[in-house]
Amino acid sequence: MPDDTITIALASDHAGYPLKVQVLNWLNSQGFATLDCGTYSEERCDYPVYAHKLAEALLGQRALFGIGICGTGNGISMALNRHRGIRAALCWTPELAQLAHEHNNANVLTLPGRFMTLEQAIPILEAFFQATFQAGRHQRRIDQLDQLQ
Ligand code: RB5
Repeated sequence: MPDDTITIALASDHAGYPLKVQVLNWLNSQGFATLDCGTYSEERCDYPVYAHKLAEALLGQRALFGIGICGTGNGISMALNRHRGIRAALCWTPELAQLAHEHNNANVLTLPGRFMTLEQAIPILEAFFQATFQAGRHQRRIDQLDQLQ
């Protein structure tokens, strides 16, 4: 799984900051390159600011995948998914993370920082990065995400 040619961008708000730091250190220990898009402390802030920075990093091809963390994982997912080309998936089990990558070609894994420890996050991260997109019928459905009336 670990591959230092893959850069993973991370972003969180204050509520996700403690888990973000732990996840970033774990990713580095596994050989991944990381790009920290903030926030950089537990001072209260607004999750859309950092979600947009993460989306810009991916869409600007400065990272291949992203990790987004807020308190529940919901707000940062909503902000990320406003960006065309970003597919952020909130996952709290390894199977959900595997399927988010295999079926949805998720390029951002979002996590609930106030409801998950690093020990719980590691199997989810492993499942996400070990999975590969299965394409086929799933690509057709992903194409339809942008086909708005
Ligand atoms: C911050 O208090 C909290 O509302 C935020 O981290 C997130 O859970 C929102 O979805």
